[in-house]
Amino acid sequence: MAKDIEKKIEALRDQIRHHEYRYFVLDDPEIGDAEFDRLMSQLKALEAEHPTLITPDSPTQRVGGKPREGIVKAAHSSPMLSLDNTYNVDDLRNWERRVHELSGREDIDYVCELKLDGMSLALHYEDGRLVRGITRGDGTIGEDVTLNVRTVRSIPLSVPKEKLKKAGIPANFEVRGEMLMPLAAFRKMNEDREEKGLSLFANPRNATAGTVRQLEPSIVAQRRLDYFSYMLLQNGRTFFDRHWDSLNALDAAGFKVNSSRKLAKNFEQVWTFIEQQETKREKLPYEIDGIVVKVDRTALQDELGYTGKAPRWAIAYKYAARAGITQIEGVLWQVGRTGKVTPVAMLKPVPIGGTTVSRATLHNMDEIERLGAKIGDWVEVERGGDVIPKVTRVVEDKDHPRGHKLFHMPEKCPVCGTRVVRTEGEVDYRCVNANCPAKLRETILHFASRGVMNIDGMGEALVNQLSDRGLVKNVADIYKVTKADLLSLERMGDKSAQNVLDEIEASKRLPLERVIYGLGIRFVGERTAQFLAEHFGSIDALMHASEEQLQQVKEVGPRIAQSIEEFFREKKNRELVEGLRASGLTFTGTKKERGTQLADKTFVLTGTLTRPRDQVKKMIEDAGGRVSGSVSKKTDYVVAGSDAGSKLDKAKELGVSVIGEKDLDGLLGG
Ligand code: IVH
Repeated sequence: MAKDIEKKIEALRDQIRHHEYRYFVLDDPEIGDAEFDRLMSQLKALEAEHPTLITPDSPTQRVGGKPREGIVKAAHSSPMLSLDNTYNVDDLRNWERRVHELSGREDIDYVCELKLDGMSLALHYEDGRLVRGITRGDGTIGEDVTLNVRTVRSIPLSVPKEKLKKAGIPANFEVRGEMLMPLAAFRKMNEDREEKGLSLFANPRNATAGTVRQLEPSIVAQRRLDYFSYMLLQNGRTFFDRHWDSLNALDAAGFKVNSSRKLAKNFEQVWTFIEQQETKREKLPYEIDGIVVKVDRTALQDELGYTGKAPRWAIAYKYAARAGITQIEGVLWQVGRTGKVTPVAMLKPVPIGGTTVSRATLHNMDEIERLGAKIGDWVEVERGGDVIPKVTRVVEDKDHPRGHKLFHMPEKCPVCGTRVVRTEGEVDYRCVNANCPAKLRETILHFASRGVMNIDGMGEALVNQLSDRGLVKNVADIYKVTKADLLSLERMGDKSAQNVLDEIEASKRLPLERVIYGLGIRFVGERTAQFLAEHFGSIDALMHASEEQLQQVKEVGPRIAQSIEEFFREKKNRELVEGLRASGLTFTGTKKERGTQLADKTFVLTGTLTRPRDQVKKMIEDAGGRVSGSVSKKTDYVVAGSDAGSKLDKAKELGVSVIGEKDLDGLLGG
C-alpha cells in the first residue's frame, strides 16, 4: 500500500517534471496551464497526506526553507573567469590569428554562442541532485544562493541517473551558465515597482543580480528568471574532448542550452554567425550584448591557457551599444494611469539598432535638471532592455551647438486641462482629475494587458477608439461592449470583433488576484494583489477591510493599506466593482498559505499559556481558525492555561469544549 502511494507520487512528479521541461526549457508546452495546475495540486494533496514521502527534489519543493539570514560565501571548484572583448572584425581576426600562431595548427573549429546579458552562476549537482548554486563573486569565492536558484523552473532539481548516463555525464558534476531576466518579466517588475513608488532597475542585468541576491526565495520565485547553461565541469575541469559535445550533453540531460549556437569550421563561418545573430537580436525575448567565440577542442584550450583573468581560447565580440545622437525638437507631456505627467523628448528621427527612434523618455523634471537638457540640444539616446529609449546625456561640441529653450512642466494637464500638482517630497507631478481621460485610457490598457486580464487584441488602437466614442468609460464597460459596437469601429472586421469578444469572455474566468490587480489601485502590483487575494479570499472581504486589517496582509504597510481603503471608499469605484460583479468576473478565490485543520473554528485563549499568546494565536490563524476575545455560544473551543478564571467558568456554563495546549497541538496535527 505505502509502496503504491510512493509509486503514484513519483509517477506524478515525473509527469510534472516532464511538463516543466516542455514549458520552461523547450518553450514548447504540451498541455495548458490549467491542466498543469491540476497535476500540481494533485501532487500537493498527496504529499500533504503523506508528508514523510516529500523529497527535496519534488516539483512542489522549489520554494522552501527559511529566507537566508545573510550572505554565505562559497568557494568555486576552479576560477570563474571573464572574457576579453573585441568590438570590430579586425580585432576578432587578430585574436583568431594568434590562436593559430600559438597552437601552430591550421584547422581549428570554433563554437559560437550568444553572449547572454545576465549574471554567471555555477550549479553543483551531487548524485544527480542540485545541491548548491553559487554566484560568480570575485571569480574564486561567490555567494551561496541555492534557495533562490531552486525557484528557477528551467533549472532541474535533479537529473535521473539513466539520463545522465545516456548523456555521458557523471553523477557529480557542475554546470556553469547565465541567469537572466527575460524582457517581459523585467518590464512587468519595473511597472510594479513604479506603482509602488520603488526605485526602478536600470536594465535586466541589474534586475537579475538584485533578484538572485535577494534573501527571500518566495520573491525570487515570482520574478521569473531563466537560466542557460554553457559549461559542464567535473572537479572544476571540463571532461568532454569538445566543447560542442558538452553543450549537446547538457541539452540531452535536460538543461536549457541556447539553440542559437554554431560549430564553425573557420573564421568566415564565425563572422557569418555574428552578422546573422545581430539582425535577430531585436526579436529575442531577452538581452544579449554580443557573441562568445570559443575554441572547440578541450586539448587545444588547455594548450592555449589563460592570461590573467581571461582565457586565450575564448573571446567576446561585443555588438555596438544601441545608442545614437540626435536633436531634441520638442517635448510631449504624457499622462499615465496614476495621473503622473512624464516629459517625453520628441527627437529628430534616428536609426538605432534596427529601428527608428523618434521619442525618448526624460523621466521627470529632476532628471532633466540632472542632464541639463534644453529643447534644441543634441543628445545621446540609448535603447536598452526597456521599451522606451532614454536620453543619457547632452552632447556639446562645435558640430552640436546647445539648445536654448527650457522645459516647463505645464500647469494644466495636457489631456483634460485640470491642475497639475507636485506632492511634497515626491519627484513626480500629477493631474488631480480622477476622471481624466488619459487615466481612463491607461487604466483600461492596464486592465486588458497580458498578465492582468489578458484581453488580447485590446491594445492602444482599440482602447483609444472605444474611449473616444464613449463606449467604454470604465473597465466594467468592457464587458458591455457588443459586436455591433466593435463593428462600428475602424479597421474591425467580423472575425477580429468576434476574437475580441471571445477574449473578453475568457477573461471572466481568470482568478481573483488578476481582478484585484486589474482594478489599478495605486501601489497594488501583481504581487500585492496575490497576497490580498490569498488573505481575504474575496473582493467583498477586501472591500470591507479596515486599514488595520489590510496591514495584516503580507507586505502591506500603512501606505498601501491607505491607498486600498481610499480606493474602495470612493463611490465610483464601488459601483465599478458592482459592474464587474454583474458581468460575472471571478470575485472569490481560495484563502491560501493557511492550513485548513481549524477552518472556521473559533477559539478563545485564557489563563497563562506556556507559549506567548501571540504565537498561539498565529498558529491557530495559520491553520485557518479564528481567535476571539470573549466566550459565546459560537465559540468552538476555549484553550485554558493555568490560573484560568471567568472565561473558563463561562465556557462551562455554555457547554463550550475546554481544551489544554496539548490538545490544541493535537488538533493542529503536531
Ligand atoms: S563563457 C571562460 N559563454 O560573459 C569562459 N560566458 O565576460 C567564461 N556570458 O562572466 C564564460 N554568455 O557571465 C560564456 N555563452 C556564454 C556567455 C558568457 C554570457 C557572460 C558570463 C561571463 C561574461 C564574460
